[in-house]
Amino acid sequence: MTSAPSLPETISSPPIHVGIIMDGNGRWAEERGWPRVEGHRRGIEAVRQVVKCSIQSGIKYLTLYGFSIENWKRPSQEIEFLMGLFRLYLREELDELDEGGVRLRFIGYRGLLDKDIVTLIEEAEDRTKGNKVLTVIVAFSYGARQEITSAVRDVARQVLAGDLDIDQIDEIMFSEHLETAGIPDPDLVIRTSGEHRISNFLLWQSAYSEFLFTDTLWPEFCEEEFQGAINEYKRRERRYGDIV
Ligand code: IPE
Ligand code: IPE
Ligand code: MG
Repeated sequence: MTSAPSLPETISSPPIHVGIIMDGNGRWAEERGWPRVEGHRRGIEAVRQVVKCSIQSGIKYLTLYGFSIENWKRPSQEIEFLMGLFRLYLREELDELDEGGVRLRFIGYRGLLDKDIVTLIEEAEDRTKGNKVLTVIVAFSYGARQEITSAVRDVARQVLAGDLDIDQIDEIMFSEHLETAGIPDPDLVIRTSGEHRISNFLLWQSAYSEFLFTDTLWPEFCEEEFQGAINEYKRRERRYGDIV
């Protein structure tokens, strides 16, 4: 008697690291005849919900794409509003995040940010650095191509200085030159708003991530949908080029 073919193995454990491209704020507001910035304001509530749900689900790293380096092209009024919202979020949420054991990290080019924002970022990172429940990585003024080229420059400088042999350059050491050094690659990347693209988010790190695209606009993304995304991830098979 031949045995039944074995079923493909699914992941079944929750993702360790989830990345989210939080898109669709402007359209959400425009659909209601409201200014785009109202969508950004409402988006903060969705951020609160995914942070809470990540803690409950045992996720260890949550990367939130809040502002891309390309978003600096937007009208100055919208940029100012987003910067204001970022300040407000950090000031209002930091105590609660810290008390909940959340560590905050920020990735992205700080050279374009106002000085007071850089100070807020540094203070938040410093204050929460010992927290272990969940690490929230905020990608702000972030671009993956810029992150990679900056890492290439770092490595090239070490080679030129004679501190590194070219043959020592490998994937692991290169990863340590990225802003995400020490953070495991995202297992799951979610993008809201129906767009099916990566928009310069974690290009190197997401080489083997599972992707989930939803039509939901970011301000409407809720705990239930996040939980649904995690459940969907658990049903996926990850093969990394191997065969099951
Ligand atoms: C995402 O929402 C937030 C940022 C990019 C800052 P959008 O502002 O891109 O909203 P849509 O995609 O135009 O609807
Ligand atoms: C990606 O959204 C960046 C963030 C969500 C922060 P965008 O709205 O800027 O991306 P595109 O322009 O649709 O690719
Ligand atoms: Mg968008």
